[in-house]
Formats: sequence, C-alpha cells, structure tokens
Amino acid sequence: MALRLGDEAPNFTAQSTEGAITLHDYLGDGWGVLFSHPKDFTPVCTTELGRVAALKPEFDKRNVKVIGLSVDPLEDHNKWAGDIEETQGHKLNFPLLADSDRKVADLYDMIHPNANDTLTVRSVFVIGADKKVKLIITYPASTGRNFDEILRVIDSLQLTANYQVATPVDWTDGEDVIIVPAVSDEDAKGKFPKGWKAIKPYLRVTPQPNK
Ligand code: BEZ
Repeated sequence: MALRLGDEAPNFTAQSTEGAITLHDYLGDGWGVLFSHPKDFTPVCTTELGRVAALKPEFDKRNVKVIGLSVDPLEDHNKWAGDIEETQGHKLNFPLLADSDRKVADLYDMIHPNANDTLTVRSVFVIGADKKVKLIITYPASTGRNFDEILRVIDSLQLTANYQVATPVDWTDGEDVIIVPAVSDEDAKGKFPKGWKAIKPYLRVTPQPNK
C-alpha cells in the first residue's frame, strides 16, 4: 500500500554517490528529504540537482539531510555530476542513491506505471526527526520542482511540531501564524504571551512564537 502521512518512513540500505546509506542511521535525530528524479543526463533533472546543491546550506540550517534517487547506476551518477557542476555552477554535495534494482523506488511507490513504466516520477518525501513521513508531493517528469517551496513547508512542519499553531496560506518564516482551534482562549493566554487577534473565534492570529 502507498505511504501516507504519519507512516514510518521505510528503512533501507542502498548504494549512493557517498557510499552505502542506511536511511534511519543516516538521518540520525535530524530531518530528511528523500526525492527522486526520472533520469540522469536529462535537462530538467540537471537543473533540479544543481538547485538542491545550491540550497544545501539552507537544508543544513534546518538540520535536514537531502537524498536524491533515480534508477540509474552509480557510474552514471558519477559521470553526470560533472555536467551538473559545469552547467549549474554547483557541485553535487548530497548523496544520490543508485537504485538500479528499484528497491527504494518500490518501497516509496516512486514509479507510477501510467506515467512511465520504468522511471521514477519526481517524488518528494519529507521525513521528521521521529522518522515519520511529514509531507508527500509528486510532480510529473515534465515539471521541475520549486525547492524554495520545500524549504517553506519544512519551516512550517518544524514550527508546528513544537507549537500549537498552523500556518496560513502562502506563509513564510517570520510571518504571523494561527492558533489551532483545539487551544482554548484560556490556554492560549499562557501559550501565546504576545497575544492574538481574533478575526473570528476560530481564526486567531498571533506572532510567530519562536521569533
Ligand atoms: C528531464 O529531466 O528533462 C526529463 C526527464 C524525463 C522525462 C522528461 C524530462
């Protein structure tokens, strides 16, 4: 059955451009992003991997380890890495799994046969420090992802893991957040000392509590 939010991220050991990786050990007590691309030596994938390499410091800041994957062999990943650096100006600085036997792709349901029989789609899984799946997004091969959006969601996931808040539409880090309806006004006084604005009884807006 397909993975769902809240499920434990299936563990695996696989070969990568940085040696063998066992997912749960590799993540330790941090967060993870596991994402697939369809194929090495293809244009959109080349731009995506360059962008993720450029954003590595942003993932590091959030204690998130990024892992890429395709069903191409390790030797192709290693050859393609040169093209990524040459064309995107950023050297590959995170591991790419070589999932030729599709073990990980099958575990995470990354091959969608009605889209393509053999290649992975552009899947994204965000995995929390508790090893649970926090976010699943799937894009088609023809659409490159927006990794700023992935970082934005991670900011929301990490904030809402620690405070009883939710983040509104188009929220970015530093902006006001919403007190979840499960918190009574009485309890909110203690939890949100900066106060809040009640636009409706169920829509209470407060400054981001960890800023
Ligand atoms: C690409 O990365 O450009 C791509 C890969 C597979 C199918 C279509 C596009």
